[in-house]
Amino acid sequence: MRIRTLKWPRIRILWKNTVLFLLFWLSCWVFLNTFLFVHRNVFSDHCTDEESKRILAGLCYDYKDGVITGNLCEDMCVTHKLVYKHCLYYNQGKKVMQADWQGQSIILKSTNEALSKSEGPIFLDGLEMQTLSDAELLLMVAVEVKNVLGLDLPNKTMMPAWTEKKKGHNWKAELVSMWSLFQQEEYLLFNLLQDFSKHVLRVIGTCGNFYAVEFLTAGHAWKQNLFSLEEVFGQCNIGEKRIAALLDIAVSFLDMVHQFDNDFSHTLHLCDVKPENFAIRSDLTVVAIDMDMAFFEPKMHTILEQNCTSNQDCNFFDCFSTCDFTTYKCGAQRENSNLQVICDKIFRRWFTVSIMGTTSIFPLQTELHKAVQQCAQSTNRENLFSKLYNLLRASQHQLLKKKSN
Ligand SMILES: Nc1ncnc2c1ncn2[C@@H]1O[C@H](COP(=O)(O)OP(=O)(O)O)[C@@H](O)[C@H]1O
Ligand SMILES: [Mg+2]
Repeated sequence: MRIRTLKWPRIRILWKNTVLFLLFWLSCWVFLNTFLFVHRNVFSDHCTDEESKRILAGLCYDYKDGVITGNLCEDMCVTHKLVYKHCLYYNQGKKVMQADWQGQSIILKSTNEALSKSEGPIFLDGLEMQTLSDAELLLMVAVEVKNVLGLDLPNKTMMPAWTEKKKGHNWKAELVSMWSLFQQEEYLLFNLLQDFSKHVLRVIGTCGNFYAVEFLTAGHAWKQNLFSLEEVFGQCNIGEKRIAALLDIAVSFLDMVHQFDNDFSHTLHLCDVKPENFAIRSDLTVVAIDMDMAFFEPKMHTILEQNCTSNQDCNFFDCFSTCDFTTYKCGAQRENSNLQVICDKIFRRWFTVSIMGTTSIFPLQTELHKAVQQCAQSTNRENLFSKLYNLLRASQHQLLKKKSN
């Protein structure tokens, strides 16, 4: 009898343990499968080194075949002084890779994976290419710039040393490479603004349809300061130094906005404003690194002026107008501004109490916070630009004074 009374609880415990063990395994299995499913679906869109190396190998194949050329091809394909590091793109997007060249980091970019055979100007075969005059070439480029950027080029712009190149045996490859670059809106913009703006990426060189730009400290939405100040200053970026850096970067953002709004023959509209699309140089200059969604006024008009049935139809990423319900067409004029979107998407993150710390370090913080909120919501850019600029400058002076005391 004693034995029987002891046996039942023991069987129950054993049964309970088995069920717990099975439940544990089941939850592990569910967790693992969910993880694999999410990983496959969310991250499958990212580039792989294998894919990127295949793309560059194709480029070098074309170079050795004499189809393309460019000042970086030899180092990329023959001397291997240009070394691939890793890739930074989404599979469907443009190709962006990091590489080392002559001891410096660079970024290789191309909208297309490979040079499309249809990319050369249609009339390009053999003899006709050699006989193309400079004036004809310039006209071709002007038409392309008009098509891609919506800009009319003044007569004397973008006149490379074609006459010399035309005599070379590589002329066809030169032309094909140039053409594949000119069809990329971002390259054209970088190229056009090189000498006019410090807020645009420096183009280092090209090979076929790829172009190389300087490598900078890019922004990241998940970083508290948006930009990794450690990369610029090393580890000592605490307290006042961090705030001083953020103020400098903010002033540079305003400088960029002012230049894009006023200094070119047309306003340059930034329609994709997010930390990832900007970077900083070591002197804290802000640089626009992704200009796929930057449009000069005439092209902005064409993009916005669409048929509509609601205001929603007139939103183009960060650029919008409103629907005219008498004509059912969106207004051609953008209604918000570069400043407004930068206040909303960049400055708002910085000028809050939590990120700036105590008011004793930074007394104008509350006023700046208010000005940024106002700027993000208002279309009155003239007054708000000056107000923000003066507040940022005054804050810089306050910090400097504090440091020298
Ligand atoms: N010049 C650069 N220096 C450092 N990082 C860069 C540079 N250009 C691009 N990147 C990084 O690569 C990412 C993708 O480049 P981007 O031109 O924005 O491509 P996409 O059009 O696919 O968004 C950027 O978000 C940034 O993190
Ligand atoms: Mg981008």
